[in-house]
Amino acid sequence: MPADERYDATPYLPSRGGIPAHRKAAAECEGCPLYRDATATVFGRGDPHARMMLVGEQPGDREDLEGEPFVGPAGRLLSRALAEVGIDEAEVYLTNAVKHFSFTRKGPGKRRIHKAPSLRETLACRPWLEAELRLVAPEMVVVLGATAGRSLLGPTFRVGSDRGVVRPLPDADGIRCVATIHPSAVLRADDRDAALAGLTADLRVAARAL
Ligand code: URA
Ligand code: SF4
Repeated sequence: MPADERYDATPYLPSRGGIPAHRKAAAECEGCPLYRDATATVFGRGDPHARMMLVGEQPGDREDLEGEPFVGPAGRLLSRALAEVGIDEAEVYLTNAVKHFSFTRKGPGKRRIHKAPSLRETLACRPWLEAELRLVAPEMVVVLGATAGRSLLGPTFRVGSDRGVVRPLPDADGIRCVATIHPSAVLRADDRDAALAGLTADLRVAARAL
């Protein structure tokens, strides 16, 4: 894609169909440059009629290789936190604000290191997330971390000040949301137990509001 072209997934969206049709079309998305270095588009997974949808940042290394969201270390931590508050993972829909893995290569082994997607890439990918919101039509969206927050709640979103309260999801017709920290941030935290307790508390707020 030439540099002057628009960052926008819209031309790749199917004009009809449900989640399976969108997942299939997203596999061919070239709506921003992230598709070039990643292995696969990682679309959402879970119950396509879920009452709760959780939105992360972007796939990680494992998700990129497996083509499914939240199957690596952050996903395992999220699964544990969901179980702790009594949310059945089989009954939720899990997805990301950005559908391709953004990374840089570092070190002697040139390992792939997570690199936060830019706002421009996040906004380019938003049509897929909007389609998932429309098709799944959840009652509650859990916004995991700053990238999902900027995509869904606006560019001034800050996790620190905006987490843990139920509020309307903007432009979303009665859908409510709760923001919280990203499970990867729990894994990186100095005090992991406290960070996990915070994530769990926020998930409980979302579960109780359902
Ligand atoms: N982090 C995310 O935000 N999403 C995933 O799918 C995995 C890790
Ligand atoms: Fe398309 Fe999103 Fe991938 Fe960019 S990150 S190519 S917009 S699916």
